[in-house]
Amino acid sequence: MSERAITVVGVIGAGQMGRGIAQVAATSGYEVRLADATIELAQAGKSTIEKQLARLVEKGKLTASESEAVGGRIAPVAGAGDFGDVDLAIEAATENLEGKLRLFATFDAALPPHAIFASNTSSISVTKLGLNHPMGPLELADLIGLDTVLAIADVLHRELGDSKYRAPARLRNLVAAGWLGKKTGHGFYRYDASGAKLA
Ligand SMILES: NC(=O)c1ccc[n+]([C@@H]2O[C@H](COP(=O)([O-])OP(=O)(O)OC[C@H]3O[C@@H](n4cnc5c(N)ncnc54)[C@H](O)[C@@H]3O)[C@@H](O)[C@H]2O)c1
Repeated sequence: MSERAITVVGVIGAGQMGRGIAQVAATSGYEVRLADATIELAQAGKSTIEKQLARLVEKGKLTASESEAVGGRIAPVAGAGDFGDVDLAIEAATENLEGKLRLFATFDAALPPHAIFASNTSSISVTKLGLNHPMGPLELADLIGLDTVLAIADVLHRELGDSKYRAPARLRNLVAAGWLGKKTGHGFYRYDASGAKLA
């Protein structure tokens, strides 16, 4: 696994989950490439995110210039060909095994060698999807940054109103303690100065 910092996040699927992930990633300062089955669907996904950002501005939770900056960090793209500079790819496409297998083959070939490929699937085994070196969810959370993961959970909980997204107290406590994962050497796991996970 690479120790490089993540600056560009690629999201595959601009549906309910993909839009939420893209919005939170861009709000957290990442550059986002948003892909769907067609460029038009990716653009429609970005338009929906912009409406969502406008609502946050109306509610006073975001300034107009912050909203513009967040939108500016989300680039709808035509497909895998635009994932050449992506550090972390998150697949959030329709829950369908054959479709996901095709997507993994196509996007895996397009990603740079250091990139991490994650799936948001709710029911398909990541081993079955052929992801190399599958990482457990807590280790992936440490890698992304627990502050970012908490922000994602809070946005999904607020926007979807589903209690299954309520952030667990342990995650909130770790963030409050400044244990933000790999970048601080301590999260769900501990890491040495080179970023290697300690047993
Ligand atoms: N909605 C939830 O509460 C929830 C929770 C946890 C996990 N998930 C998982 O997240 C994933 C996405 O779920 P969702 O609710 O956002 O679905 P959704 O139907 O809202 O969105 C799926 C998106 O994938 C796109 N898509 C289909 N084929 C594609 C392709 N070949 N390339 C790129 N994009 C493609 C669709 O056009 C659509 O925009 C699924 O695996 C689902 O199991 C969903």
